Amino acid sequence: MDRVTQTGEATLSLVGGAGRMGLLLARLLKGRFTVKIVSRDPERAKEAADLVGAGWAQIETAHESDVVVVAVPIDRTVEVCRSLAERMRPHSLLVDLASVKTGITYTVRDSTPPTIEYLSLHPLFGPQVQDIAGKRLIAVEARGGSMTESFLRVLQDLGARIWRATVEEHDRAMAAVQVLHHHALLTFASTLGQVASNSDLSPYVTESLERTMQNLKSMQENWETILLIQRCNPHARRVREAFAKAAADHLELDEHSRVNLRRSIMILGSRDDDRSG
Ligand SMILES: NC(=O)c1ccc[n+]([C@@H]2O[C@H](COP(=O)([O-])OP(=O)(O)OC[C@H]3O[C@@H](n4cnc5c(N)ncnc54)[C@H](OP(=O)(O)O)[C@@H]3O)[C@@H](O)[C@H]2O)c1
Repeated sequence: MDRVTQTGEATLSLVGGAGRMGLLLARLLKGRFTVKIVSRDPERAKEAADLVGAGWAQIETAHESDVVVVAVPIDRTVEVCRSLAERMRPHSLLVDLASVKTGITYTVRDSTPPTIEYLSLHPLFGPQVQDIAGKRLIAVEARGGSMTESFLRVLQDLGARIWRATVEEHDRAMAAVQVLHHHALLTFASTLGQVASNSDLSPYVTESLERTMQNLKSMQENWETILLIQRCNPHARRVREAFAKAAADHLELDEHSRVNLRRSIMILGSRDDDRSG
């Protein structure tokens, strides 16, 4: 039994902890770890810590914790992980949350000390969730061990569903799911701007569009991350091109559209089994 599974005993630094995902994780994990929010600005760290009832630490000491979670922008993840990892204690655990894994997971793994464990995690939910019961995370195990397993068990105890994948599996799937979905919504937004500019459509908004609007608002709030996902996922361009072709092919709706609708529901359909080992 290690320190991670003994409630509240292990320390966990959240680098980027005053950001959106950092604050969420601080709220979720503070009952299971001694959580320290870390920001480049100590005043910001203190304010965030007060907000969620966690502790805080200077960035210079972030590496001292048993678990160090890096919740910084995708394109800053490698440099931040590297600089922390070289000072982390043997057998401690480094975790990144980046939404794209190509160019990050194996680069960090191959340029950090083999004495620490490293887990490349992708929460498939945003900072607006209240808890993680039933929520999915993809775990790309880069340098596993007992700390990694204990950390994943904590997330499962909180109700999360863990699915294990390789970098390639993750980025291919996320291109089809996240890149395509965001791109479709952005294309919808831009088309709406063209076909209904200067209109007030609010009295006409359907229930289903209300749900779409929630997604549009969430994308607006997470804009920097949305943009980096479109730029950094190596399969994104191909998916956007396929979208443009499909949109052109669909100018005349026919029975194929219905077949494709049914197929997409089957592809995305729910499966309850965890691939959590
Ligand atoms: N937002 C989502 O829905 C979502 C979902 C799943 C995964 N993710 C992943 O979670 C990570 C964080 O996303 P987020 O939306 O929480 O971003 P965010 O709100 O912009 O927060 C990131 C934080 O990183 C810190 N930071 C920025 N550059 C840094 C640097 N060079 N060195 C150290 N710290 C730096 C900043 O904090 P200080 O200025 O206080 O230092 C900033 O508040 C990303 O990798 C993203 O892909 C996001």
